[in-house]
Amino acid sequence: MKVKNKNYSSIWDEKGVVKIIDQTKLPFEFKVLELKTLSDFCNAIKKMKVRGAPLIGVTAAYAVFSLIKNDSPNSYLKKIYSSLLNTRPTAVNLKWALDKTINNIQKNSIKNKKERAYEIARSIRDNDIINCQKIATNGYKIIEEYYKKKKKTVNILTHCNAGWLATVDWGTAISPIFLAHRNGIPIHVWVDETRPRNQGALLTAWELKNEQVPYTIVADNSGGHLMQENKVDLCIVGSDRVVANGDVCNKIGTYLKALSAFENNIPFFVALPTSTIDLNLKHGKNVPIEIRNEKELSTIKIRKNSKIIEGSIYFDKAKVYNPAFDVTPYRYITKLITEKGIINCNKDSIKNLMKL
Ligand code: MRU
Repeated sequence: MKVKNKNYSSIWDEKGVVKIIDQTKLPFEFKVLELKTLSDFCNAIKKMKVRGAPLIGVTAAYAVFSLIKNDSPNSYLKKIYSSLLNTRPTAVNLKWALDKTINNIQKNSIKNKKERAYEIARSIRDNDIINCQKIATNGYKIIEEYYKKKKKTVNILTHCNAGWLATVDWGTAISPIFLAHRNGIPIHVWVDETRPRNQGALLTAWELKNEQVPYTIVADNSGGHLMQENKVDLCIVGSDRVVANGDVCNKIGTYLKALSAFENNIPFFVALPTSTIDLNLKHGKNVPIEIRNEKELSTIKIRKNSKIIEGSIYFDKAKVYNPAFDVTPYRYITKLITEKGIINCNKDSIKNLMKL
């Protein structure tokens, strides 16, 4: 996607060095970082310089390539695996990418481990782009259908950031919106601010602005009201893990939006690559929910005279609790939009999809 008329992806390699866009600085500063050491990679994921389920998977795969040597013993590979896996617990794409890289290299007793690791990391990265483009095409059909019926601007509500910054390019929930806009369908996006880190207001809105898609940022609590006022035609969100029965884990607040949508008869779509599906877990209650630092809730960054300053918004020592994700039961989800097609959100449809 374009940033000031130049095409960027969220992660790439140049002369063997892995580069990312530091998402903690956006949208106020566009800063490219190089990741070289194990702690560079782990910190980038933990501190959310890179974030979004697909992107943290790609970052982990690139970490393996970057750190491995042809004579690296399996004990070192295990260390890389567990250090990266422990950075963030909820998005299954992290484990999926690590399994794909590390297990492959260990299992086949490959001589040229570095080259193999690069091939795998590149294929995970490049396939993520292809998959997101396919999600765009599939999701586009849904938006187009609404537009054909309604013949007026389609109003879409989204939560968190499931745009190109959460993937390598294009995004999941936002990719059909980009495509529909490029194809001339009039769209307006309600962007949930997404407290406490404000990924909606800071990242999704910035992506939409760059693509000139009309949008409005709203406080997270506004969704129900907007739906009651017929201001939302459909909701599209991303996911960090969809389990075998179809329960969807995504950014905290997603569940409340799905409940509101259900009550107001508004379709609620979840867009995801199949690398986000975890058939090992049967029920959403088994998904490990990341509990993040209290400071994320009790402090806020603001821009003042072109400087970013941070300050407390609660009284000192106020007690806070900061779960980063929630689970939406499958019955509230209209359809899953994947790179392999659009399916009903239930056990059998998911099982069949994963066989394709
Ligand atoms: O905590 P984050 O910013 O990594 O959470 C991201 C989300 O919850 C996204 O909606 C999800 O990863 C899907 S992104 C394609």
